[in-house]
Amino acid sequence: MGEGKNLVGVDIGSGSIKVCLIRESRRGLGLVRLGYVPLGPQVIVDGQVMDSGAVVEALGRAFSEAKIRQKECALSVSGQSVIIRKITVPMMTAAELDEQIQWEAEQHIPFDIKDVQVDYQVLRKRPEASQMDLLLVAAKRDRIEDYAQLARSAKLKPIVCDVDSFTVQNLFEYSRGLPADQTVALINIGASFSSLSIIANGVHVFPREIANGGNAITEEIQKQLGIPFEQAEAYKCGGNPNDPSGAGMVPQQVVQIVEAASDSIAAEIQRSIDFYLATSGEAEIARIYVTGGTANLAALARAIERRARVPVEIWSPTEKVTVEAKEVDAQLLLRRSAQLSVALGLSLRKEKEVRTA
Ligand SMILES: Nc1ncnc2c1ncn2[C@@H]1O[C@H](COP(=O)(O)OP(=O)(O)OP(=O)(O)O)[C@@H](O)[C@H]1O
Ligand SMILES: [Mg+2]
Repeated sequence: MGEGKNLVGVDIGSGSIKVCLIRESRRGLGLVRLGYVPLGPQVIVDGQVMDSGAVVEALGRAFSEAKIRQKECALSVSGQSVIIRKITVPMMTAAELDEQIQWEAEQHIPFDIKDVQVDYQVLRKRPEASQMDLLLVAAKRDRIEDYAQLARSAKLKPIVCDVDSFTVQNLFEYSRGLPADQTVALINIGASFSSLSIIANGVHVFPREIANGGNAITEEIQKQLGIPFEQAEAYKCGGNPNDPSGAGMVPQQVVQIVEAASDSIAAEIQRSIDFYLATSGEAEIARIYVTGGTANLAALARAIERRARVPVEIWSPTEKVTVEAKEVDAQLLLRRSAQLSVALGLSLRKEKEVRTA
């Protein structure tokens, strides 16, 4: 879908920054650089950058620790700054659509059109009805500009800005292909957000951002046990950082809190799935794939499975990745694998994009 070299995929998540550089070959995705820098809990709160200095510093550190010299990169935005709608328009050519899309967006997007960057994807052409279905995407310009500015302050050159849920879908498509005759859901569960994409018969039909993720679980542990965030985070991830013997020290209460908090995330996901089923008239989802840092919690996958009553599979975004440079820290790759879907998805983007729709 593009030409030129692959961009560095830069995921500015609310919990950490992830950067990936790949070399695509017939054998798959060759990872040549990987960087991961955690962010403190007050740096990005609910997707809002509170401490831009810390983000810029972390971006610089991610690039230098990973030994990435290339500056051209791809970023993405997520959360409430993005609105995605499926719309139907009369059949038209790509050139006509490019002209028409702003007007269409004004009808469907509840923001002032001047404040948003609009893009679209053709989902389906229905010549028999002289109509086509589009996915209309509008992202707030100030959010895109804020992220691009952070990157520029870290001496990077942002070339592309994508949306988390699309990025993850793209990687999934690359990795697995889209099932042609089934409806599946793909969910990236991060620290503050979860992005849900429903893919029906090979077409992405329903993306949705859910303002809930692993932080909600950590905060619940923090509140109920009256302990600092870092400690609650360590308990949630299975161990106590101050105790080398690790997992054995996690209080039983933590297990119960994780179960309960996971269930409320699962309930929220289920509400979105139900909404999709009710509005699309479709009967069922065949399978749910989960990824993102919070997908590491087995309790969450179980909770989603219980609510949705369909098989839940933990999808590793690195399943098609081979390590192709000694600079890649294999331990880091293993430990952070679930968190890499956005950065890896972004690293599929090329310097020169070619629109295929
Ligand atoms: N082994 C683990 N067990 C449980 N939770 C984990 C584990 N590893 C990471 N997490 C959780 O995953 C979350 C981070 O995931 P991820 O890196 O996908 O999010 P992010 O991209 O930083 O955030 P967001 O996309 O929401 O802005 C954190 O809440 C973290 O606690
Ligand atoms: Mg994320």
